[in-house]
Amino acid sequence: MATLWGGRFTKETDSLVKAFNASLPFDFRLYRQDIEGSIAHAVMLGRQGILTEEESAQIAKALRSILEDIEAGRITADEDYEDIHSLVEDKLIKRIGDPGKKLHTGRSRNDQVAVDMRLYTREHARETKALVLALLHLLLSLEEEHLDTFMPGFTHLQKAQPVTLAHHLGAYFEMFKRDMSRLSDTIRRMNICPLGAGALAGTTYPLDRDLTAELLSFDGPALNSMDAVSDRDYLIEYLSDLSLIMMHLSRFCEEMILWNSNEYGFIELDDAYSTGSSIMPQKKNPDIAELIRGKCGRVYGALHSLLVTMKGLPLAYNKDMQEDKELSFDAMDTAAGCLRLFTGMLKTTVFHKETMEKSAVMGFTNATDAADYLVNKGMPFRDAHAVIGRLVLYCIEKNKAIDELPLEELKEICDSFEEDIYEAVSLKTCVERRLTTGAPGRAAMEEAIRINKQYLINEEEKKDE
Ligand code: ARG
Repeated sequence: MATLWGGRFTKETDSLVKAFNASLPFDFRLYRQDIEGSIAHAVMLGRQGILTEEESAQIAKALRSILEDIEAGRITADEDYEDIHSLVEDKLIKRIGDPGKKLHTGRSRNDQVAVDMRLYTREHARETKALVLALLHLLLSLEEEHLDTFMPGFTHLQKAQPVTLAHHLGAYFEMFKRDMSRLSDTIRRMNICPLGAGALAGTTYPLDRDLTAELLSFDGPALNSMDAVSDRDYLIEYLSDLSLIMMHLSRFCEEMILWNSNEYGFIELDDAYSTGSSIMPQKKNPDIAELIRGKCGRVYGALHSLLVTMKGLPLAYNKDMQEDKELSFDAMDTAAGCLRLFTGMLKTTVFHKETMEKSAVMGFTNATDAADYLVNKGMPFRDAHAVIGRLVLYCIEKNKAIDELPLEELKEICDSFEEDIYEAVSLKTCVERRLTTGAPGRAAMEEAIRINKQYLINEEEKKDE
């Protein structure tokens, strides 16, 4: 293998060292960004007269042919090079000779890898936004479909108050909406070009860093060359965005696993998104939801790992930073895969509306409303709370719901109950009366949906910018 630093050395690298030091097996995937960055650098060198226009054009053309060869599988990660940068440069030199040797003028692998990884992460973050956006569209359409699908809302995993499926899904809509906003922030902050920072201290050649930044669609060049080659904040931020997305997916998956169990029976996962058991023929397992829940840990791991790698590193570049790739790539692949699978799984899920509604009726989720009923008849809330507590105890003994008791029995517990109690504690009334902003009542939900529809339209428009 040709190394990039033969001159100063008299001995071959130890073979174990070579393998330990090499990053090609995992940075090969940066080939497109590496070539894109090199073309921008070559174009700029030509414009500045550091290379002739002819040399610059020759380099760009050869780099494009290398890109074609990689995309066609004629050059692979199995080649014997230290990293993607040395692979591309050596192929270039083999193809065009001396002009190829001039590409690295005024550049170091330190700013080169910094630009490659930023380009890759920026592109991935944009793809992640598109995946989250697709999930948001699905959630909003399900919300519209399930405005009247009543279900119990839980606290402490105990039935608490009735809500609707639309309302429950709407909670996830807000979470993923925040994820979108975090991704946008991360992209905006990372969109600064490190190219031209050199090894750490810039260069004596008259590079035009504004031009390379512009050619690579960055907002501008990094203003400190030492920071430019050693900043990995943007990657940590992105891994943190992905971790939160995974946390939201994982919570949602946990609920779907519960809802899909025999005990709940709220949903049925599609056969295409479930698996069977090798021994128990009756089983249909929610493996996909469980795997997404499980893979969450892997993405957190990447975030934590990079935080630890970066802690205490002196300026500027250190080889430790090569460790930013493997786990980050794994986290990116994992999160994107989970988003795709989750959206497919949710889209094909059947919701058992009647079971959900029955579950809400049976769990005394209307107890607060029964207390509010007595408050409206003039009783202080604390007293009403105690009366309904006794009423619930009575109902548990009789195995009945509050509104299944005849008025005489209700009156024995509290004289204030009248015929209108049944209407007041019906599931529909309990939900429909909750009309504060963000509550599950139909009018409140419709308003939230209207706002979020506009949000999606705005996001779709921004996609084309
Ligand atoms: N493979 C290296 C990385 O990922 C590229 C930069 C190497 N720079 C150096 N000075 N050895 O960080």
